[in-house]
Amino acid sequence: MNSRSSTPIACLILAAGKGTRMRSAKAKVLHTLLGAPMVAYPVERARELGAAPVVAVLGHQIDEVTRALQGRFGDSAVTVVEQKEQKGTGDAVRLGLRPLLDFAGLVLILYGDTPLLRSETLQALVAEATKTGGLAMLTSVVGDPTGYGRIVRDGGKIVGVVEDKDATQAERRIAEVNAGIYVAQAEFLRNATAKLSPRNAQGEYYLTDIVAQAAASIGVTSVDVPAEETSGVNDREQLVAAEKVLAHRIVRRHLQYATFRAPSEVVVEPTVKIEPDAEIGRDVVLRGQTHIGEGARIDEGVILTNTIVGKGAHVLPYCVATDATIGDNNKIGPFAHLRPGTVLDADVHVGNFVETKKTRLGRGSKANHLTYLGDTIVGEKVNVGAGTITCNYNGYEKCQTIIEDGAFIGSDTQLVAPVRVGKRAVVAAGATITEDVREGVLAISRAPLKQVDGYADRLAERYRGLKKDKR
Ligand code: UD1
Ligand code: CA
Repeated sequence: MNSRSSTPIACLILAAGKGTRMRSAKAKVLHTLLGAPMVAYPVERARELGAAPVVAVLGHQIDEVTRALQGRFGDSAVTVVEQKEQKGTGDAVRLGLRPLLDFAGLVLILYGDTPLLRSETLQALVAEATKTGGLAMLTSVVGDPTGYGRIVRDGGKIVGVVEDKDATQAERRIAEVNAGIYVAQAEFLRNATAKLSPRNAQGEYYLTDIVAQAAASIGVTSVDVPAEETSGVNDREQLVAAEKVLAHRIVRRHLQYATFRAPSEVVVEPTVKIEPDAEIGRDVVLRGQTHIGEGARIDEGVILTNTIVGKGAHVLPYCVATDATIGDNNKIGPFAHLRPGTVLDADVHVGNFVETKKTRLGRGSKANHLTYLGDTIVGEKVNVGAGTITCNYNGYEKCQTIIEDGAFIGSDTQLVAPVRVGKRAVVAAGATITEDVREGVLAISRAPLKQVDGYADRLAERYRGLKKDKR
């Protein structure tokens, strides 16, 4: 998706505000949409455009926001500038341009709270500024323009922006509004923001005043976009509405080649990859670096985080997997829990109420019922019987269990780690395995069975008359 324009481009992201209407202890731009903090969205868009440097103007909770950006994009991907007092968007841009003193090229101005902007739109805006050499800005025509800056035109040409609080009655009726997203030459922005003054209804340095300056010098043009794309997130209702729009967009894209049984009832984070012919059920959640293989089927209620699913695998309802690899043609669940470090080779079956952690199962192995495998290496074609438990923790450290190719672990076995079961060994049901089992043997640890004659009758005699329906 990277499209680099020939003119160098830098990006400023304004995100110093508190976001009072979120009523949150956490800065607005740290609230997440589909798993990513809001402020990550404009950074992603800037990077897709090949913008460098990317400068974030931060103020409220600057340390937390900086950490979130560094955690996501690395330490030096975003240059942070502090705006101590929020004196207006014009002041924020003036400060944000400081690290760009020697930068010659276009500057894209984005906000930390408009996560719905699409790359295509920003590309069009950059193309417009490149073509005209003037200021290019995004505008939208909206049903209710209250609160927005209005676009003032004269004979079709933009001559300025008037803020809602400064507008006359007539100006308030203008339905074309300022999205607040601009592209212009760095030099123009440096000069124009230096000339701003806070003589207006809010006593702020309005960035919007650069529009009239541009109209009188380099010229202004606009790119019109649907309001949905430029709408900002100010409260929690708008947050979930924006998240829904993003989710729809993502699913619509995957729907071109994969089937979603209930497209509006799944969560697919933008980082997830899905191969053709996959089939995704209702209420499925796919997070992080999850990758669904070709023709895989993910049933209702499955939650996968950073999990790779092989070709043709079938994950039955209500499985949860995190940092796991599910192999080709595996059959998993229902109700399986694959924890970090689970690696399943091809043709593995993991059934209901099975939990795995740091465990590898070789090709064709099965653990179908009620089992815990932790810190375990299982070879190929092993059958792990119902109720098998690896006792991997002795209270101090985790210990490893190794089950070699073709072994058969009978039901209700405890494998007290560290322990190894040799190739083709058969562990009898109910065994507690406390030492290595040799290749090909039968391992049985069982108290001899005793049968006491006449016991049922003696018991009935003792309790005679207490229970009517007993024989
Ligand atoms: C701004 C525009 C308005 C436009 C609207 C679109 C101005 C004066 N007005 O208004 O024309 O219709 O956006 O949403 O520009 N910020 C800072 N430092 C500041 C002030 C703001 O970093 O000193 C950041 C905020 O955190 C936010 C963004 O800039 O991310 C926009 O600020 P906001 O106060 O929401 O601007 P609006 O009043 O909505
Ligand atoms: Ca706003």
